[in-house]
Amino acid sequence: MDAMTWFSSPTATTAALGEVGYLADAATATTAYLAGALEKPLLIEGPAGVGKTELAKSVAAATGSSLVRLQCYEGLDEARALYEWNYSKQLLRIQAARGDDGSGPGWDETHDDIFGEEFLLTRPLLTAIRRDEPTVLLIDEVDKTDVEVEALLLEVLSDFQVTIPELGTVTATRRPFVVLTSNAARELSEALKRRCLYLHLDYPDADREREIVTSRVPELDDRVARQLVDLVVRLRELELKKAPSIAESIDWARTLVALEVGTLDQAAVTATLGAVLKHATDIERATRELKLA
Ligand SMILES: Nc1ncnc2c1ncn2[C@@H]1O[C@H](COP(=O)(O)OP(=O)(O)OP(=O)(O)O)[C@@H](O)[C@H]1O
Ligand SMILES: [Mg+2]
Repeated sequence: MDAMTWFSSPTATTAALGEVGYLADAATATTAYLAGALEKPLLIEGPAGVGKTELAKSVAAATGSSLVRLQCYEGLDEARALYEWNYSKQLLRIQAARGDDGSGPGWDETHDDIFGEEFLLTRPLLTAIRRDEPTVLLIDEVDKTDVEVEALLLEVLSDFQVTIPELGTVTATRRPFVVLTSNAARELSEALKRRCLYLHLDYPDADREREIVTSRVPELDDRVARQLVDLVVRLRELELKKAPSIAESIDWARTLVALEVGTLDQAAVTATLGAVLKHATDIERATRELKLA
């Protein structure tokens, strides 16, 4: 059965994701396991930079699947998400078929011809449904699309089939492992949520974050890693415009390694805060509240 492509248990999920460098907590591993076992789409919500997109990539890497990614944005439409016809190629074919003396085949024949496979441009949703190999379909930042696209997703994720009027219905022979991510910029519809398993990803606790940072930046000194994570936790408690995410912790670690910082004292923090905070007002505020010089 298809579900066997994915993970055999929550523990096995933790281990498999760990092998490809993704350190999952128990809730994350369990939900990812269930998404595979139940063949249900996994909706991950949470702030920026906490590992939503990375989880989808890691599921693909850990299971030897290909990743098909649909990046959502305002104005994304069916033609970009599902499929469209290659108009210019169709036009060329019509012209070529007509012949110089206008004695080409009739319209019916040409019509059948130009609405064939050769003229179809498949976009991520259709691509993922048609693949015979194990596939992870990442629908990234779904909260950035319009409601119409959500309706389309709903349709596709309900029966994993797509009807192309000129070609017929395409049904998935093997369901992809679907991951949707959202920053919760807007509420997704109840109907979409109902079809998904839900995972709220948040900033990890200090121990896990230290593990993540040292696994990504192994050259980082243990003591500096501890200081860095403690500071990041404190920064998140301040009311900043943009709280530092795991991605920023990793950036900070790389910066400190590049500068060969042996201890994260005030001078070192002041000099490198730009790796963690990206707004002038946030830097001012942190400098004031953390009593940095
Ligand atoms: N559990 C984890 N294990 C290992 N690395 C992680 C983990 N969580 C996050 N990371 C690291 O944090 C980085 C940022 O994660 P990612 O790009 O997935 O964030 P995101 O939640 O998708 O953010 P955004 O909402 O901005 O797209 C990743 O490149 C990865 O290196
Ligand atoms: Mg992301």
